[in-house]
Formats: sequence, structure tokens, C-alpha cells
Amino acid sequence: MARRKKIYEGKAKTLYEGPEPGTIVQYFKDDATAFNAEKHDVIEGKGVLNNILSEFFMLGLGQIGVPTHFLKRLNMREQLVRSCEIIPLEVIVRNYAAGSISKRLGIDEGTQLPRPIVEYCYKDDALGDPLVTEEHIAAFGWASQQDMDDILSLALRVNDFLSGVFLAVGIRLVDFKIEIGRVYEGDFQRLVIADEISPDSCRLWDVKTGQKLDKDVFRRDLGSLTDAYSEVARRLGVMPNNPPAPGKPTLVN
Ligand code: TMP
Ligand code: ASP
Repeated sequence: MARRKKIYEGKAKTLYEGPEPGTIVQYFKDDATAFNAEKHDVIEGKGVLNNILSEFFMLGLGQIGVPTHFLKRLNMREQLVRSCEIIPLEVIVRNYAAGSISKRLGIDEGTQLPRPIVEYCYKDDALGDPLVTEEHIAAFGWASQQDMDDILSLALRVNDFLSGVFLAVGIRLVDFKIEIGRVYEGDFQRLVIADEISPDSCRLWDVKTGQKLDKDVFRRDLGSLTDAYSEVARRLGVMPNNPPAPGKPTLVN
């Protein structure tokens, strides 16, 4: 079989040219990083869980009419997605204070916010993804005013959807990060949810016990990350029966 062309290798995923023009294969690695890759480990099975969980959320969003880049899962580690131009922003939605907002504003972790708060960070690893305002985004042309209106509405729809899905299985969605892509259709462009939605990019706390079920388990050395992500997958009913060995894709229909 001909070797695929690698387009990009990130911290947790590798992107390959897809089989059709305008498609990309997203390969989910087992690498976990935190604090801008200062901390790194390989966590067996993490990629498989994130691939399956991201498929579950992207399909659900599609079903309620929120456009995403997701096309289909190819195997345990890979999914086919539409190629899009990523807007260089991390869009963060917070329902409860935790992480950087707690530090920045001195709010105790776990405090419910008066309403969902949306923040934007400029995607630049060398700068450590700094927080930016809409003023920066407009002045530097990273997104138009129309894009920002659409991004805010998408982010809040994703928040309502994910909050409900998690609450139904006893999990509180504390906050999450999404990335937005542009796809071109003839003369039109539209925005879609891109990248991934997984416990790598959310904060998830058990409603009853407050136990953390997300990447903070790795960031803060709180135990087994695979156990935490497996618990999320199990509650959502998408736990693979026989998680395959890392690095060995298994075909699904
Ligand atoms: P923060 O509290 O560190 O700003 O993180 C807010 C949310 O964004 C949290 O759910 C984790 C997620 N996140 C990422 O997905 N990637 C990142 O690089 C960072 C810093 C946070
Ligand atoms: N994803 C970022 C990193 O690797 C930060 C984080 O998620 O904490 O470094």
C-alpha cells in the first residue's frame, strides 16, 4: 500500500491526506501533554478512547444541526474529516470556575459562573496560546465580525448540547475548548466545529463525588487517565469492547 502523505503532526493527533480531495484522516495518538508540552507521557489507549468519544459528540452535534468537520470513523484510531481552514483561536466556554480563570480572577474552583463565559485564546504554541479579546481578533483579521457572531452562537449551542449529554450520565461539564474551521462551498464559506471534542479538551467532574474525569487527572497527577476516560466512555455507552493495542488500527464497518 502506498504511504500516505503526512500533512501535520500535532501533540495529540497526526493528520494525513485523505482518500478524496477535501478530506483528511485524523489519527489519534496516545501522547498526552500539558503546560504547552512541558509535561509529556504516552498513555496506552488514550487515542482510541478520544477517537470514539469525539465521533460520539460530533455525530450528536450533527444530529441537532450543528455543523462539524466529521465524516466517518475509519478504525479504532482514525477518522475521516473534511479539510478546513482552522481559525487560529481556541474557543473556551466555562460554566464553573476552574483552571486558568480561577487563577486569573481568584475564583474558587467549582464556583458556578453567573452565565456561560466564552473566552478566546490565540493559537500559538510559542506564545503559550495567550488570552485575547475580540478587539485583537478584529484588528489582526483572525476572524470577521460575522465569524465572531457565528462562533459565539456555535459555542453556546455546543455548550448546551454537551452539558445535557453529560448531565444525563452524572457528569458536570465544567468547561471545554473547541476549534472552528472554515469550509468553502462554491462562493460561500461556512464555519464548522473542527479538531476534536474529548476529555482532553473538557473539564468533567462527577456530579456526586466531584471526581475528575478529564485531562486534569494527567495535568495534576491524580491517577490513571485511561481509567478516567474509560469511565466517561462507559457511562456514555461507547466503550469499545476490546480496546486494541496502541498503534494497531482495527477496521470497523
Ligand atoms: P484553562 O482553564 O487551562 O484555560 O482551560 C480551559 C479549558 O480548555 C479546559 O477544559 C481545558 C481546555 N484546554 C485545551 O483543550 N487545550 C489547552 O491547551 C488548554 C490550555 C486548555
Ligand atoms: N494542550 C496543551 C499542551 O500540551 C495544554 C493543556 O492541555 O494543558 O501542552
